[in-house]
Amino acid sequence: MKDYFKFYGAVYIFIIAAIIVMGTSYINDLPNVTKEKIGGFPVVAKDTAKDSAGVTADLPMIKGTLSPPTDVMKYISSTPEMVDKGKSIYTMNCASCHGEQGKGDGVAGASLNPKPRNFHDLNGWTNGTSITMMYKTLQEGITNRGMASYANLPPEDRLNLIMYIRTFLPDYPAVTQVQLDSIDQKYSLTKGVKMPNQIPVKLAMEKILQQNLTVDQKVANIVKTVKANNTDSSAALLLGITSNLTKALTVLAQDSGWINNEAALIKIFDNNPVQNGFKARASYMLSARQLTQLHVYLRRLFTGI
Ligand code: HEC
Repeated sequence: MKDYFKFYGAVYIFIIAAIIVMGTSYINDLPNVTKEKIGGFPVVAKDTAKDSAGVTADLPMIKGTLSPPTDVMKYISSTPEMVDKGKSIYTMNCASCHGEQGKGDGVAGASLNPKPRNFHDLNGWTNGTSITMMYKTLQEGITNRGMASYANLPPEDRLNLIMYIRTFLPDYPAVTQVQLDSIDQKYSLTKGVKMPNQIPVKLAMEKILQQNLTVDQKVANIVKTVKANNTDSSAALLLGITSNLTKALTVLAQDSGWINNEAALIKIFDNNPVQNGFKARASYMLSARQLTQLHVYLRRLFTGI
């Protein structure tokens, strides 16, 4: 249980670090952009940016805000006001992917794999359908699966969104005091939270999203290749040491250090194998010769050579 939290803690730190790095590079790039829109946001005109003195003065739109304390407990029952507010935020931010009617069929989501969630079907959710899990999704995103973080929306907006989503189907799990309490505790909402800078977060998330999507697509193609040749002895070796092929290949796709280094590949097998889609003791299952064969095979799958 503890390790589980550690893992998510680490992911969160990574996302924050990525936001800072990308936000900085965005700021650095600012003088070069003109009045066009980037990621749907009108960008400050070149001259305005040049004229102002400091970096912060260049970017009046991106200042972080302090969101007022949120009364989480009132979400124990939904009101028409919450649903109305949620609906308008949904239409602006979510319908493009999740569809006007929440069926996961928005135009922007058509090319995504996996598809945006259909809110009329409660099966197979990645995080889950409870208010706690939906809040987590909106806070952290599921960026490696194409769902961005909406941490830049005030907590109240996010809760209203959830209230609206819940109207698509009567079967959503009931909201309980305990769940609301846990959201409150985890994100200290009654205290009021510091909201991240809006534009960089949004842009950064889009970039993370794109990067992850290409990894996803690459991995999906490799999975197809491996499964199509599963009688091949190298493919059989790979299938033999993985419990979740997609996950394992995603881990490999994110760390290229192993491509020319067999020892680094073994390290990947041995590091948190179950979490990473490998079988426990995967590296012990292979002879030295098999390991070399698998290394060559994986390198060919990822690099074509
Ligand atoms: C760029 C397209 C896109 C946009 C915009 C988008 N989503 Fe998603 N969303 C996705 C995808 C893709 C998934 C599926 C992720 C998965 O299968 O794990 C998803 C999944 C979800 C889930 C289910 C998570 C789970 O546990 O399976 C929720 C809830 C959600 N989105 C809410 C929202 C809300 C609310 C908004 C607007 C504030 C929004 N999404 C905007 C693409 C999008």
